[in-house]
Amino acid sequence: MKLTAVVFLAATAAVAAPATVTKAVAVLNPVGASGVSGTVTFSRAEGGVKVSAHISGLGEGAHGFHIHEFGDCSAPDGTSAGGHFNPTAQPHAGPTASSRHTGDMGNVVAGKDGTATLEYVDTHASFEGESSVLGRGVIVHEKADDMTTQPTGAAGARVACGVIGAAKAE
Ligand code: CU
Ligand code: ZN
Repeated sequence: MKLTAVVFLAATAAVAAPATVTKAVAVLNPVGASGVSGTVTFSRAEGGVKVSAHISGLGEGAHGFHIHEFGDCSAPDGTSAGGHFNPTAQPHAGPTASSRHTGDMGNVVAGKDGTATLEYVDTHASFEGESSVLGRGVIVHEKADDMTTQPTGAAGARVACGVIGAAKAE
């Protein structure tokens, strides 16, 4: 009888385990009156997580683009999202650096029409463990990330904010 109960509980736990996340989405909303909005999709890919961003309402040029520690866009200036997501305690750098914040996605570059798109495979981001980006924040900045200045890249104010949530697998 006891054994039956244990086997039953084990089977129930297996069924109740959450499905593996293969896709996540952050909808970016304007911080204050910036007028910047967009969508960032994260999907499982060979060697990491594919990032696809479509952002509009930007000034022409490069804008810092990061995953921040907290999925909290409640502050009027976006500072509630905290600093760059950095679970491995590394210095700030660009997305191609081997040693960098997990959240360092570099810049998005807007054309004259104020729209920017970016697509690349991020080798540091993950959907599991300490580097999981699920529930973290995405921030777009007013200025370019110089990929050198610590710990922010001197990217200035926050102009859009979104929270990375699990999405339905495709
Ligand atoms: Cu940032
Ligand atoms: Zn950083």
